Amino acid sequence: MMVKSELTDSEFQIFSDYIFEKSGIHYTINKKTILQNRIRRRLRDLGLESYKEYFEIIKNKQMNDPEVVNFFNEVTTNETSFFRHDKQFKALEEMIIPDILANKKTGPLNIWSAAASMGKEAYTIAMVLSSMSDSRAKNFKILGTDLNQNVLDIAAQGEYDIKDMKGIDSRYKKYIIEKSAEGLAQMVPELKKNIEWKRYNLKDTFTRFPKMDVIFCRNVFIYFPKEVQRDIVSRFYAQLNVGGYFILGHSETLNGISDAFEYRKFKNENLMIYQKMK
Ligand SMILES: C[S@@+](CC[C@H](N)C(=O)[O-])C[C@H]1O[C@@H](n2cnc3c(N)ncnc32)[C@H](O)[C@@H]1O
Repeated sequence: MMVKSELTDSEFQIFSDYIFEKSGIHYTINKKTILQNRIRRRLRDLGLESYKEYFEIIKNKQMNDPEVVNFFNEVTTNETSFFRHDKQFKALEEMIIPDILANKKTGPLNIWSAAASMGKEAYTIAMVLSSMSDSRAKNFKILGTDLNQNVLDIAAQGEYDIKDMKGIDSRYKKYIIEKSAEGLAQMVPELKKNIEWKRYNLKDTFTRFPKMDVIFCRNVFIYFPKEVQRDIVSRFYAQLNVGGYFILGHSETLNGISDAFEYRKFKNENLMIYQKMK
């Protein structure tokens, strides 16, 4: 069945308010066509013709309702890559982890990839830690969370197009099993066993998680207005151990959001790395 009609401005507003209330993601009117095309895919799958009809189905449902899960699988943007902003991973290896280990008495390093998408960020962290010369760095647990269940399924499988691995430095190749005939590459089980994947909404309180040594929350704040960023950051702060680090994407900042953290440069470079000092 074809959905012919355009999403009207008032329908756009209804969906945009709903998405914001549930997830913190702010769709502005200039993204109307993108949102329309994403919702259309749900209408098509369900054989519905009108946006209103679809909204009636999801409007009073919980976030774990199967159709609400499908909806958020469509309306989130999941672009990611291995070693994205690679200097941050140099800082992880040369500054952050050595600093944390210098003060850590026992237990694994707890690291959270808080907008994990397809898992490339978490596997990058795992490769970096696994290849460090200090053997204590190899004792880590990574939590990968995202609102989108589809991307988490890909992350848990740990299998990617071989082309996505092209730029990865040769020192990390031992963590990747190439299946050249199929054009695929798989992360080794040794890395996978230290990563747990969970569907998790950053708007919820983080009560069930362990205290973290490092939190990566990169390239998702761009979708949240400041008041949502403030709320999430205050909970990240509480979730970090003293001395723990918080890392944003390159185009994101805590300026005007929180002054609880200290800003840390790496080799005199601004890499959006923050530390909890007390
Ligand atoms: C652009 S990707 C960034 C992935 C990775 N951090 C990186 O920098 O490459 C943003 C991710 O945030 C997720 N996301 C958006 N809103 C969320 C929310 N309220 N709770 C949890 N994840 C969310 C999206 O599903 C998407 O996978």
